[in-house]
Amino acid sequence: MAAIEKTVNQLGRSREDWQELDKEHHLHPFTDHKDLHKKRSRIISRAAGNYIFDADGNKILDGMSGLWCVNVGYGREELVEAAAAQMRELPYYNNFFQCSHPPAIELASMLRDVSQPQFNRVFFAGSGSESNDTIIRMVHRYWDLMDQPERHTIISRKNAYHGSTVAAASLGGMKPMHDQTIMLPDIVHVDQPYWFGSDQSLTPDEFGLATAKQLEQTINDIGADKVAAFIGEPVQGAGGVIIPPATYWPEVQKICDEYGVLLISDEVITGFGRLGEWFGADYFGTQPDFMPFAKGVTSGYLPLGGVLVSNQVATVLIDKGGEFYHGYTYSGHPASCAVAIANLTIIEREGLVERIRDDIGPYLQQRWQTLAEHPLVGETRMVGLMGALELVKNKEPIERFDSKQGVGSLCRDRLIDNGLVMRAVGDSIVCAPPFTLSYSEADELIEKSWKCLDLTYKALNA
Ligand SMILES: Cc1ncc(COP(=O)(O)O)c(C=O)c1O
Repeated sequence: MAAIEKTVNQLGRSREDWQELDKEHHLHPFTDHKDLHKKRSRIISRAAGNYIFDADGNKILDGMSGLWCVNVGYGREELVEAAAAQMRELPYYNNFFQCSHPPAIELASMLRDVSQPQFNRVFFAGSGSESNDTIIRMVHRYWDLMDQPERHTIISRKNAYHGSTVAAASLGGMKPMHDQTIMLPDIVHVDQPYWFGSDQSLTPDEFGLATAKQLEQTINDIGADKVAAFIGEPVQGAGGVIIPPATYWPEVQKICDEYGVLLISDEVITGFGRLGEWFGADYFGTQPDFMPFAKGVTSGYLPLGGVLVSNQVATVLIDKGGEFYHGYTYSGHPASCAVAIANLTIIEREGLVERIRDDIGPYLQQRWQTLAEHPLVGETRMVGLMGALELVKNKEPIERFDSKQGVGSLCRDRLIDNGLVMRAVGDSIVCAPPFTLSYSEADELIEKSWKCLDLTYKALNA
């Protein structure tokens, strides 16, 4: 076993050594291992600002903020110091058994300050998946305590992503994940508000309304007295940055209000500024009962998740609930909370939410739109700093590629080889750069995108 004096990276192993050890010992998330073993993994060894560097020294612009999380960029000494100082003082203690600690308490009150007035309380978890598991527990507990235990169905959406634990995978709407897990009962999936993926016979606004109405239809089919909650990402991220038409969320809110269905806004990606407002719910004007969050709360520097719980629900859980038999060893981990406090302080001090709303957001959106002129691009869409390009075989009328061709992955591979990480979701290329993206980095992102669209187009027509 190697003795580690500085960082693991400084052990002096070659890229090939890392790749070999990785192949032999490491099972990766969301990976076809047999396929990876043929190609070998790309070893990312360091990062600074808005760039990552691989073990060969290639400098790559991070158009995905890691996994939609490194919102304040890499190399923030303040976050490193916050973790180190907290670890020196109190590296771990739990919040079970009538204990608490200052970082968890301080963060809980900061979260209240940045969220809508109905949120006054937070339950901490270690990840987005755990946060959504927590919500399922709380929703069921709430309706039991309200003497309506038959309200146990949760309505979600096809192609939604809410995490990868059994409960979160069931809640999500990803068929390939459902096929590989046992499914939690009483979860029903309705259509997603994906206008570009529809036959486009309705205007986007009509389509948004019609898709929301499906929720009402489903509530009526099941019986309103059996429906506990509706969950949705304000903008579906992993599903391909599906930005709903403006009519969608107001109608969903109206339906939830009318039928007394709890609204869960999954803010794991959209929380803490990604859309140019603190939360996606603020952007779309909903007033949810729960907001699960993770990722951007620490800008990914340490793992942390949680659930903001509305006063209406929290009051019932507290006043009527007795002990809630739920929690995680790392609920409110002190070092993670200390990093979150420092991270939210940076976001506020540097005005990063406003920067996305008024400055770099509109700039990148306008530049992103110019990619629509490329012959491969059927649609560009972006809200805040979260966007997608739809790659198509023909623009008018729209003709999609055969999914077996893997055109999205073809383009994604060219992007990374040319120094830009974006992600392929089917034939969409999605991007979510750090909030600190500069104007010249935004230009670089667009120039490299155009170049790699060209390379993909040439490869397809060779
Ligand atoms: C909207 C949403 N919810 C939940 C999750 C799960 O979060 P985690 O990977 O931290 O468990 C994700 C992860 O991408 C997500 O995008």
